[in-house]
Amino acid sequence: MKKVIVAIDGPAAAGKSTVAKAVAKKLGYTYIDTGAMYRAFTSYVLDKGVDPENEAECVKLIPEVSIELKPDGKVICSGKDVTRVIREPLVSGNVSYIASYKDIRLALVELQRKMAEKVSVVMDGRDIGTYVLPNADVKIFQIASVEERAKRRYIENQEKGIPCTYEDIVADVEKRDRIDSSRAFAPLKPAEDSIKLDTSNLTIEESVQAVLDIIKEKVGE
Ligand code: DC
Repeated sequence: MKKVIVAIDGPAAAGKSTVAKAVAKKLGYTYIDTGAMYRAFTSYVLDKGVDPENEAECVKLIPEVSIELKPDGKVICSGKDVTRVIREPLVSGNVSYIASYKDIRLALVELQRKMAEKVSVVMDGRDIGTYVLPNADVKIFQIASVEERAKRRYIENQEKGIPCTYEDIVADVEKRDRIDSSRAFAPLKPAEDSIKLDTSNLTIEESVQAVLDIIKEKVGE
């Protein structure tokens, strides 16, 4: 079987991980949530009492941090299960600072490339098609309106029992889009050869099908 690399990028809360996970499951590929890796690093920084806006102090932690994405979806950071805590507002509100530090990105990108070396993957993030895996077979840039994205994230948090208000989520999504798009190194932007997919008016099932159709057209899977 041919090794296939699918890159799904896009702004915060555009439904990338839900779609990427379902597509990977359907095709028997490995799903890699790169956002979870930046979130895990952020939770480590917060645990250590380091200020996430202090780049030099955060970068010093790189040698101490190990991140594992388990097949069952668990995220382990330096031996600790952070699966739940990385979705909480404290991490969401600080992760864009951590993701803007070049040295931290380089360390995590190296790990991401290794994870995609031997197996077919669906990898989602911000810079997968532009920087991490520029030779990906399929590149999708998934978007949705800010209101729709905030609504989806709000419902998701309610279901998981994570306290938040809709207004807070709109503010968080807008803030992260701004920081992610304007950072100097590997910012959020569509790869020139990516296919844009607007899911504002699509259900999850329709979005998954749209991605499967794109993959089929590109690589015949
Ligand atoms: O996809 P997410 O919301 O879990 O991502 C969390 C943050 O990590 C997001 O604000 C931007 C950053 N990120 C990134 O800069 N590059 C990636 N490849 C993935 C995520």
